[in-house]
Amino acid sequence: MNKAQRDTIFSQAKQWIYEAGAKIREQIHTPLTIDTKSNPNDLVTAMDRSTEAFFAKNIKHTYTDHLILSEEGYGDQLDSMDGIVWIIDPIDGTMNFVHQKRNFAISIGIFNDGVGEIGFIYDVMEDVLYSAKKGEGAFKNNERLPQLNRGVPFHQAMISMNHFWLCENRLVEEKRMQQLVKDVRGTRTYGSAALEFAYVAEGIIDNYLTLSLSPWDYAAGMVIVNEVGGVTTTIDGDNIDMLSKTSVAAGNPVIQEKIITDYIKQARK
Ligand code: IPD
Ligand code: CA
Ligand code: CA
Ligand code: CA
Repeated sequence: MNKAQRDTIFSQAKQWIYEAGAKIREQIHTPLTIDTKSNPNDLVTAMDRSTEAFFAKNIKHTYTDHLILSEEGYGDQLDSMDGIVWIIDPIDGTMNFVHQKRNFAISIGIFNDGVGEIGFIYDVMEDVLYSAKKGEGAFKNNERLPQLNRGVPFHQAMISMNHFWLCENRLVEEKRMQQLVKDVRGTRTYGSAALEFAYVAEGIIDNYLTLSLSPWDYAAGMVIVNEVGGVTTTIDGDNIDMLSKTSVAAGNPVIQEKIITDYIKQARK
């Protein structure tokens, strides 16, 4: 993808995101239609669906050869990352959307032949847009984000992770992860993977660790975090396969290296 093409797609996607965000804000106090998916706590609302449908319709109309990988069923069935692929989570943090009416985001990553070209994470209720274009840096609204500070001492690190790490699970020994929580300065759980990536890019969280995410949860975040010198890998430090559910570690490379070597690898079952 050349720069002109990237710029055009970026501007168009940004306009659609603002439009979709405005619609969500307008209807935020309207009673929700809520369904459940894999379990009673796996929520989806009519707003998740209509927002994704809005993007799918616009993309298919404007860019007939682009493909869509998305959460709620309006995308394509992909078996490769060839071509231009929009990876869309219409509402990331649906549980927050339903229960808190804030702390959720629209997340869109645009990839070309598997390479992340554009990332957007839009905090809808705060009206804050995190964005990045490959090789051109990352932004919070119009403000350029600085490179991550590689000198953060481990005992002062802020880590974002949820309680599943500390409950019995099939991937890691909880005891070792409890030690991690004690060794860093603090831990936070926000309930939106996309926002957690955005906070990593902003440098207010040093690392984000999660046992299982889907491509639409991390695609945009990977592009944005990469632009500030951060890394995104599996919890074993391997490359992410963009078409699968995977564990994810993202953030400051120095902190991440220590977490993977001294904690996760030691805790692996
Ligand atoms: C979820 C959120 C949550 C993460 C889950 C995701 P959704 O996305 O990002 O923080 O822990 O794994 O599924 O379903 O609200 O789009
Ligand atoms: Ca969901
Ligand atoms: Ca999500
Ligand atoms: Ca979602």
